Amino acid sequence: MSHSVLFVCLGNICRSPLAEAAFRAAAERAGLDVHVESAGLGRWHLGYPPDARAQAVARRNGIEIGERRARLVTVEDFYRFDHVIGLDAENLSGLRRLAPADGRAEVSLLLDHVPGREGQSVTDPYYEDDSAFDDAWRDACEGADALVERLLAETAGK
Ligand code: 4NP
Repeated sequence: MSHSVLFVCLGNICRSPLAEAAFRAAAERAGLDVHVESAGLGRWHLGYPPDARAQAVARRNGIEIGERRARLVTVEDFYRFDHVIGLDAENLSGLRRLAPADGRAEVSLLLDHVPGREGQSVTDPYYEDDSAFDDAWRDACEGADALVERLLAETAGK
């Protein structure tokens, strides 16, 4: 059974590429079959690679993300993916406005999957210093690990 997951932030150059990378790595470690992408709600950086600071924190953690390019989330994504996951509360609101009524994706907030962190946002690091990117990476990993746990449990229950 394969699971498809789309992570969404504002620019698709900082947080959602980190969540995509963290989730792909966590799923691979767990032997979980996934299709994962990321996208943004804003147009500023379409077609651009991830922010250099996001690439750097991923590289410090052994993952190269420089090849990916920012894209917008589309209405079709809500039919293509099992899960569409916002990185912060504003992203979640934007996704809920965009989601078609008959879309099949479950729309959620990343940290809703982490027991005790429900409702929390992954802070936008774009205007912050490098340590904010370390924080975003840590949150992305925590959310990714918790989501893998949930999907493993669902797979086992099927
Ligand atoms: P992201 O970060 O949503 O984590 O990719 C941002 C990137 C760019 C902007 C805001 C947030 N921006 O305003 O251009």
